Amino acid sequence: MLRRVLLAASASPKLRQLIVSAPQTRAIVDSYVAGESADDAVRVTRMLRASGLLVTLDYLGEDTTDEAQAAAVVDEYVQLLGKLSADGLTQGGAAEVSVKPTAVGLHLRPGLAAENIARICAAARDAGTTVTLDAEHYDAIEPTLGIVGSLRESYPDLGCVIQAALRRSEADCRSLAGYGSRVRLCKGAYSNDDSVAFVAKREVDLSYARCLKVLMNGSGYPMMATHDPRLIEITGSLAMLSGRKQDSFEYQMLYGIRPGEQRRLANSGAQMRIYVPYGGDWYGYLVRRLAERPANLAFFLRSLGSKS
Ligand code: FDA
Repeated sequence: MLRRVLLAASASPKLRQLIVSAPQTRAIVDSYVAGESADDAVRVTRMLRASGLLVTLDYLGEDTTDEAQAAAVVDEYVQLLGKLSADGLTQGGAAEVSVKPTAVGLHLRPGLAAENIARICAAARDAGTTVTLDAEHYDAIEPTLGIVGSLRESYPDLGCVIQAALRRSEADCRSLAGYGSRVRLCKGAYSNDDSVAFVAKREVDLSYARCLKVLMNGSGYPMMATHDPRLIEITGSLAMLSGRKQDSFEYQMLYGIRPGEQRRLANSGAQMRIYVPYGGDWYGYLVRRLAERPANLAFFLRSLGSKS
């Protein structure tokens, strides 16, 4: 409930101003975000790779409102991939990129986001790595999966994200579980109406477990994006039952969340990928992280109250 209220309230310019200008915000942002520049992203990638972790990088920003801005986002990704490649970090897909379709023009004009994503895919291919398209608001899901379907003819390793919170997702997993298909499964960070989504946490968790089973029993490459200990344990059991080798699926977690568990899984021989956001446009990302954990939000509100 609190989560839904915060996500809805986050559109308010007043709340945005309060959060962005509070001095206490910086420390929280720094714990979740690698820094402002591509060089910061490369530095953090190097550090994570040295600990045996895989990486996916997200240039922060969403809901781009003009074509020039969308083109600038594409240029940023192309440059980032060049830098990662020059440092030997993209080899074998060790560091890849995650892209939000609305950041590259999904809602601007038909075809624009697909053209822009194809440019990023071409740069990723040149660098020897892959692209995964993030899942955003409900109205972006169908067009995003449409782009994945069409671009996979040229870029079969283009990955997509399924949000277990959506009622449609188990069926989406069934159609995406085929050979070579890279699918990241997450719970879903957006607020949706219960006509299209499960709202209760328990229902979302059960849906995640059902989707997980479909993907692990399929012949694609599942990427389990969760910090939830029970779902991580279920993933391990399903891998054993389905005879999957460690290199045929991976775990994924967000930068700054449960780092001890990230290392534990990597040290156990599992593939563990860290989602590393960077850039100046961190507001939407921060609000989603605060909203998914009441303890984070309470800590943030207390610190605002005590210093103001
Ligand atoms: P849950 O929220 O139940 O958390 C389980 C445990 O993890 C908590 O008890 C706590 O210990 C820890 N934890 C979780 N969130 C925390 C936080 N913010 N701070 C501190 N501890 C925390 N969503 C989306 O809609 N579209 C997308 O494309 C993506 N992409 C994506 C990529 C990757 C790699 C990850 C890990 C996640 C996403 N997400 C996402 C976000 C996802 O949908 C979800 O909101 C978060 O991962 C939190 O859900 P959990 O599965 O971790 O479970």
